[in-house]
Amino acid sequence: MPIHITALTDPDRTSSGYRLAWLAGGDDGEPLGSAFLRVFTREGQDHLAELQLNVHTAERRRRVGSRLLETAVAAAREAGRRSVIAQADAGTPGDHFLAASGFRRVLTLTYARLALDELDGGAVDEINAIVERPHPGYRLTAWRGTVPEELAETFAHSRRAMDDMPMDDTDYGVVAWDVERVLAAAKAVADRGELLTTVVAVDASDGSIAGFSELVVPGDGKGEGQHYGTGVLPEHRGHGLGRWMKAESIRLARTDHPELAGLVTDTAGSNTHMRRINDALGYVPTHQALEYQLDL
Ligand SMILES: CC(C)(COP(=O)(O)OP(=O)(O)OC[C@H]1O[C@@H](n2cnc3c(N)ncnc32)[C@H](O)[C@@H]1OP(=O)(O)O)[C@@H](O)C(=O)NCCC(=O)NCCS
Repeated sequence: MPIHITALTDPDRTSSGYRLAWLAGGDDGEPLGSAFLRVFTREGQDHLAELQLNVHTAERRRRVGSRLLETAVAAAREAGRRSVIAQADAGTPGDHFLAASGFRRVLTLTYARLALDELDGGAVDEINAIVERPHPGYRLTAWRGTVPEELAETFAHSRRAMDDMPMDDTDYGVVAWDVERVLAAAKAVADRGELLTTVVAVDASDGSIAGFSELVVPGDGKGEGQHYGTGVLPEHRGHGLGRWMKAESIRLARTDHPELAGLVTDTAGSNTHMRRINDALGYVPTHQALEYQLDL
């Protein structure tokens, strides 16, 4: 089957990188599939690209995916990349395709979901009890959207809490955060029409942020909310701050978005602390996703 690959212009340029796109078509121009390659430009990740491939279900197993992959890998090489990562749910065609195409599995992510619309009174009481339990030396605070100016510097500093997050063999790099990057990340969420809420634990002795937990909700407040990062700085770990912040995140989500159906979180399989927090708060594992990597 003849497969024609056309490079598309993709305006999706953000502060963290740019994206290349291709369309695979047949002889009479019918679309067969597409590939997107996100090329990261931020410091600490300029060796990395992330691939997303899609072939129309009726056109699979005819090498369309392989042709798109070849094109994307050549572009990644040209952009000086060392690693290409891609994600697929366990047991899906994507999982088999990546394994057959020279990628190696570097990380397993466990997805878990809290069904907000099915929480009974007992579960709600338990979450509220965690929020209200005092954590001596710390206080909780939260904001919607962009970080308030007076907390911007300490919030950017607290982002290094994610630096030692278990990523197993993934060549993810270490992202250096500053205020500009923090503001750009919040703006990217807002530009997509989504709602970002950040809960932080503040060290009462000096007002610095000891940890944070971010939740992103669709603009209409319906459907599924997605937990982004939750991290506690190494010097503040072991005081229950992760669970405290995530419980407050749930409480706020229920108050702010009463029509939200559920909250979704993904955690590296090897991140036992975070998985324990999710279990304790009532999140139920739904499926596993696999992060694959191609070393160029
Ligand atoms: C993954 C995907 C892009 C593959 O596209 P495709 O055009 O069917 O792939 P190819 O025909 O080039 O397959 C190449 C090889 O991958 C393997 N493979 C692909 N699909 C497979 C499947 N469903 N089961 C087992 N092996 C599979 C095979 O070894 C295949 O070679 P073969 O057909 O000679 O046995 C397509 O299934 C898809 O769009 N899936 C949904 C999105 C996704 O998961 N993307 C990948 C992660 S970014």
